[in-house]
Amino acid sequence: MALLDIKGISKIYGSVKALQNIDLAVEQGEWLSIMGPSGSGKTTMMNIIGCMDKPTDGKVILDGIDISAESARNLTAIRRDKIGLIFQQFHLISYLTALENIMVAQYYHSMPDEKEALQALDRVGLLERAKHLPSQLSGGEQQRVCIARALINYPMLVLADEPTGNLDEVNEGIVMDIFRQLHSEGSTVVVVTHDPEVAEEAQRTVILEHGRIARITYNVGRESRKGE
Ligand SMILES: Nc1ncnc2c1ncn2[C@@H]1O[C@H](COP(=O)(O)OP(=O)(O)OP(=O)(O)O)[C@@H](O)[C@H]1O
Ligand SMILES: [Mg+2]
Repeated sequence: MALLDIKGISKIYGSVKALQNIDLAVEQGEWLSIMGPSGSGKTTMMNIIGCMDKPTDGKVILDGIDISAESARNLTAIRRDKIGLIFQQFHLISYLTALENIMVAQYYHSMPDEKEALQALDRVGLLERAKHLPSQLSGGEQQRVCIARALINYPMLVLADEPTGNLDEVNEGIVMDIFRQLHSEGSTVVVVTHDPEVAEEAQRTVILEHGRIARITYNVGRESRKGE
């Protein structure tokens, strides 16, 4: 059974058809990229997979649960337990340090645990920045704190919407290493990107155009037939 099974979803905003009849299955342990022009529906799709929004039509089955039919309250719990979200608009809390930002996320999952939060910062190479406020971190470092925060409970599904969009090459390399490590530990990874090099890390790339799947490419050199 696929970890994620998207069945005929559409998302309509007034006269805008942001997604039109998308079918897509993602196997457990797969790494999938989503590409496409601005406005093609990538973020809309990630919001729906990430339990942040519901489709107008169709079904989304995540780990055996039809998330398109769940209440908002249940969606929050599913998101918390199963998904690590790395979205650019998920800002850090400005008056809390890097460490405290992670401990707040732990609080929502279970119990704050400073040692574990420090380990999460260490994973993204920011142990020595634990006491810094977001304003005392570079953009790339803030992005890495967001990643550490998303990963505290080892989510089965990692969703990232342009995680390297604002990063320089060095920080992009660090972020991609984190994704590689997560994937090797068994997480299923879905990454939206405009960068072909980032997309190539995946086994498959889905290209959206005008809210539809225009094509799917299989990336050479990857274990590319998973899920077929
Ligand atoms: N809340 C909303 N209300 C109305 N229209 C929306 C809403 N959210 C998105 N749209 C429209 O849906 C379409 C798809 O938007 P989406 O954000 O998914 O694009 P995208 O592929 O992520 O683009 P980008 O690469 O610029 O981030 C766009 O035409 C957008 O204007
Ligand atoms: Mg977007």
